[in-house]
Amino acid sequence: MRVLVVGTGARENAICESLKNDCELFSYMSNKNPGIAKIAKFKQGNEGNIEEVAKYAVENNIEIAVIGPEAPLGKGIVNKLEKNNIKCVGPNIEAAKIETDKSFMRNLFEKYNIEGSLIYKVFDKYEDIEAFLDDFDRDAVVKPVGLTGGKGVKIVGEHLKDNQEAKEYAKKVMDNKRGGFPQVIIEERLIGEEFTIQAFSDGKNLSPMPAAQDHPYAFEGEKGPITGGMGSYSDKNGLLQFLSQENYDKAVKIMEETITAIAKEASPYKGILYGQFMLCSDGPRLIEYNARFGDPEAMNMLPLIKTPMIEVCKAIVDGNLDIVEFEPKASVCKYIVPEGYPETKHIDEVISVDEEKIKSIGAKVFYAAVNQKEDDKIYTSSSRALGVVGIADNINESEKIAEKACEYVKGNLYHRKDIGTEDLIQKRINHMKEISG
Ligand code: GLY
Repeated sequence: MRVLVVGTGARENAICESLKNDCELFSYMSNKNPGIAKIAKFKQGNEGNIEEVAKYAVENNIEIAVIGPEAPLGKGIVNKLEKNNIKCVGPNIEAAKIETDKSFMRNLFEKYNIEGSLIYKVFDKYEDIEAFLDDFDRDAVVKPVGLTGGKGVKIVGEHLKDNQEAKEYAKKVMDNKRGGFPQVIIEERLIGEEFTIQAFSDGKNLSPMPAAQDHPYAFEGEKGPITGGMGSYSDKNGLLQFLSQENYDKAVKIMEETITAIAKEASPYKGILYGQFMLCSDGPRLIEYNARFGDPEAMNMLPLIKTPMIEVCKAIVDGNLDIVEFEPKASVCKYIVPEGYPETKHIDEVISVDEEKIKSIGAKVFYAAVNQKEDDKIYTSSSRALGVVGIADNINESEKIAEKACEYVKGNLYHRKDIGTEDLIQKRINHMKEISG
């Protein structure tokens, strides 16, 4: 079978690794990712240019395309490929609205009475925002309605001093149509612990993966700016130490009901649904959905998948998805990023990665926003450079493996040493106990 993976990052490197032994693999990527280039035939180009991606897929008789990032989904890459009889793991433009249009998502929860929602309102007039915030008795979160690559969300008490700053920011979002809509969404700020559940969906059936926790802040101790995610961990029983089976099941039920609602309201959702939840004192609430694998969380899940990924992809496109099984192991992923990240200060600098040493300690490496040039050297670009993953019987061991692997990567780089450590996990457990009373 001929399979195309669209996208350039560590998430796509992990997807390619999970498929490489069972198909003829192709990649469409913007940079030359050395991890993907080694195992797939590839073309370099802008993966958001859906005409060009479709042309490449048709020329190469692709049978299934797996779409990594959200931007091409938001442009309708799946509709385009399906018109050319190429089946896709990824939702079409209508179903992808669950990520690309936050007002669609919140309205769906309301209309279909799905639990786990929160107080929110969508605005298109500044006067209404003023009136709403003047009476709002809790901290607000201001979000553009469309895609902003995770950089549009601002929270009162964190990035915004008070409701006055929230009003000013909301006006700017609306005036500049950030995310593509002349609208803004204001939500209540949730207090709790964030967790991720990703699930495969064939449009009717949902198969959830183990829970994971990402770390969006750049520096140790949750300090510094918000990033695309500095690393993540998952546990061998599929839960997290602060997340009970009951709350995991509640979150999965929310996702199942969402899949049913999308099929009625838009179109059957085929692909990976990423649920970002906040575990609050009264249970899980949905912060937002992504219409694709998480990055870094894909790196935790894909190395543990027991059902061959090619079979999962076929079942998604054919609509006969069964339960996908995972090894009962813990995993810790650490992202290694250019010094100064998320600012783009150290672009185009050489890094060296001793893959042999990394593999010799049982760790995995997935390349992200790096570029292998004609001299064969690996250069940084504007974002995260690579992820390393430790897998073992418990989180502690996995963390040690991942941390050791970081020693074999050299360059003007940094990573968070606290991800997956006992201390940090204990803080999460204590936080949940504190807010649950
Ligand atoms: N882990 C954050 C994301 O995938 O968007």
